[in-house]
Amino acid sequence: MSRKNNRVVFLLMLQLITLCNAYGFSLLEKIHVTIGNHLGDGLNCSIHCKCKDDDLGVHVLQFQGNYEWSFRPKIWGTTLYFCNIQWRDAAGTLDIFRAKRDWNRCGPECLSIVTPEGPCQFNYDSHAYDICCGGKGEDPTKIEFGPKNTCA
Ligand SMILES: *[C@@H]1O[C@H](CO)[C@@H](O)[C@H](O)[C@H]1NC(C)=O
Repeated sequence: MSRKNNRVVFLLMLQLITLCNAYGFSLLEKIHVTIGNHLGDGLNCSIHCKCKDDDLGVHVLQFQGNYEWSFRPKIWGTTLYFCNIQWRDAAGTLDIFRAKRDWNRCGPECLSIVTPEGPCQFNYDSHAYDICCGGKGEDPTKIEFGPKNTCA
């Protein structure tokens, strides 16, 4: 190859690299979701997560157990995974990953736990599981995303 051709190839490659960065290559990055059982000793919960075209089935989580999976979100930001979670006589459905809400908030590593007060998501600003929904003072048989809408 001539020196000139080398230069053209180099410039093309450089452009490809910058293109990928400029147009949000990270949008296609895999998202990894983890749900941990923090209910307490001896307490199982059952988790059934799905999105429109993917049913992940029912899984029983023992105390301190994790359930996790990865997926590639759709580029137009419509990906929604929701989970039905039950323990003892409590049950509810929550959005565990909603692209518009969570891409910036937790992606690509979305961590959530189930506590006796309801589910909480890990907050990368405070480094604590303090984005919590439902729970205290409300009907304990319903898990809902927040009275203050902290999770909406
Ligand atoms: C919790 O789940 C484990 C494994 O599925 C099971 O062996 C155990 O009996 C369950 N405990 C309760 C209290 O349901």
